[in-house]
Amino acid sequence: MSGIINVAVDGPAGAGKSTVSRQAAKQLGYIYVDTGALYRTIGVNALRKGVDTKDKAAVAATLSDVSVDLVFENGEQKVLLFGEDVSTEIRTPAASMAASDVSAVPEVRAYLFDLQRDIAARSNCLMDGRDIGTVVLPDAQVKIFLTASPEERANRRCKELLAKGQQVNYEDVLAEINERDYNDSHREIAPLKPAEDSVLLDTTDIPQQEVVERIINIVKEKVQ
Ligand code: DC
Repeated sequence: MSGIINVAVDGPAGAGKSTVSRQAAKQLGYIYVDTGALYRTIGVNALRKGVDTKDKAAVAATLSDVSVDLVFENGEQKVLLFGEDVSTEIRTPAASMAASDVSAVPEVRAYLFDLQRDIAARSNCLMDGRDIGTVVLPDAQVKIFLTASPEERANRRCKELLAKGQQVNYEDVLAEINERDYNDSHREIAPLKPAEDSVLLDTTDIPQQEVVERIINIVKEKVQ
């Protein structure tokens, strides 16, 4: 892989992947790629077109003229839909469910596969998602599977949404996490599961900063 270092971080919704991955990537000097943002963008495009996101054929049809790009500004990822920055719009609960639905469509996964591979081939990166270590970057030098109990993940998600000023109900958030876990790990294509050669990290009782340090140490042990 010509000296390029790829770190795959996979795990279920709300395990804190994006926050710790962003910080770890920054400290390692790698770019951080949030692949969930890509699925969310395809989901938002489908919602905007009034497509039922559970209708696989209809979702696949939206790909014929879609334009999705990832750009990096000061190391921060932005996702563009037809050139428009949709980084905020993709974070709504509706976009989360749409993303989970569209991620079960094989054509969507195939469409996003090359985009993810191209970025990883060009730059040292830490890429987070569900199938990075198993499917997208099976040769990544480092693979980490981050998890936490559903209740802890629901707690963290509530805090995050509250901090953004959004109304939250813990039971609804927990139900949504359980539903997404089920969808993500039971779909036929690229289901969420740890790669055989991944390091498992259960973050339920570990403070965020320590998770970041552990990730950095795992990377350093494997590649430096
Ligand atoms: O990580 P996230 O919550 O932003 O991801 C949104 C949805 O996209 C999630 O329900 C599963 C899907 N996803 C996926 O199937 N594969 C990835 N590599 C990343 C996300």
